[in-house]
Amino acid sequence: MALLNESYLELAGSYLFSEIARRIERFKQEKPDAELIRLGIGDVTQPLAGAVLEAMKQAVDELGVQETFRGYGPEQGYDFLIRQIIAHDFLSRGVPIAEDEVFVSDGAKCDTGNFQELFAQGNIVAVSDPVYPVYADSNVMAGRGRNIRLMPCTEETGMKPQLPKERVDIIYLCFPNNPTGVTLSKEELKQWVDYARENRALILFDAAYEAFIQDDQAPHSIFEIEGAREVAVEFRSFSKTAGFTGVRCAYTIVPKDVQVYDAAGQAHALNPFWLRRQTTKFNGVSYPVQAAAAAVFSPAGQQQIQATIAYYLENARIIREGLIAAGYRVFGGVNAPYIWLKTPHGMPSWDFFDQLMQQAQVVGTPGAGFGAHGEGYFRLTAFGTRENTTRALERIKNM
Ligand code: MLT
Repeated sequence: MALLNESYLELAGSYLFSEIARRIERFKQEKPDAELIRLGIGDVTQPLAGAVLEAMKQAVDELGVQETFRGYGPEQGYDFLIRQIIAHDFLSRGVPIAEDEVFVSDGAKCDTGNFQELFAQGNIVAVSDPVYPVYADSNVMAGRGRNIRLMPCTEETGMKPQLPKERVDIIYLCFPNNPTGVTLSKEELKQWVDYARENRALILFDAAYEAFIQDDQAPHSIFEIEGAREVAVEFRSFSKTAGFTGVRCAYTIVPKDVQVYDAAGQAHALNPFWLRRQTTKFNGVSYPVQAAAAAVFSPAGQQQIQATIAYYLENARIIREGLIAAGYRVFGGVNAPYIWLKTPHGMPSWDFFDQLMQQAQVVGTPGAGFGAHGEGYFRLTAFGTRENTTRALERIKNM
């Protein structure tokens, strides 16, 4: 008899974005002629940069030639990509990272979901509320549901989590934040690093949206903060930065200074355990995809992806200013591709979801899907086309 991991029974019936997709399908069956505008899941719409595409095509061609064919690559990523990552994303900000601290993967969702495997069940895990569901759900799946401590992010706290009052062992932070779009200053992030150092806690820092930061005071990497190398792991992604949501490439930095402890209090470096996990369960990202990711860092690639990021940020501005003009209370959308709005008259966020879909034919994401403190809020993404973004705002204003 195959016994279920009963922790799965504690999860909501379906993953947030699967539930939204289900509701969209139902709506489309009821109203097949409706022209839905999707500003729900944070999926990009602009094509890959030309430089990225060329590199990918060339890599594909290499695979068709005996002399340049490649089989399995290194599980943690090819050197040619790892060196580019270090030079462009870290050394350029004065942050030294060693090559064996970089682990290339097929997505920050997978890495943030999988990373908890390295930790004992008894860890107390702190997540923001609202939160990107993967951090909490993956810990529930692992049997840590009862150990999750929610850090409410409210208007009073500027939508930012506050330092925990009780001891926690593992802290998930995401800045710029999904879903609220707010970010932290260096001083604010330093308080978390100091907390982790004082409490021998570990910060799992999701920086998937760092490329959208406009504010000079906002850190792009947690490793810009003194001492973070001892207490933090950072997740990065090419998905939103370079349009790789379908292509799949990301990376995780696990500094060799980070230590974790066994039950006897003996310290162990964390880095070799992630290597052990990845080499056992993952065979690396395909060569053409890594070649494409490396081309993101070429001068042409940089210029092209920056133009696309500017395009999405202009969408964010249109949404943000349009909503404010229509009388909504709005957060984010300046250093991030997400706009977090308060629903009118305290309307429950799934009701607002339905109303927006029925009356404006616009799809967003209900705040309640990100946690109890997301109730009464709603998320729109800036990843649509300009035309759809403008039309969606017109429709919302006329609602
Ligand atoms: C979102 O909409 O929150 C993101 O697309 C989720 C993700 O990146 O997995």
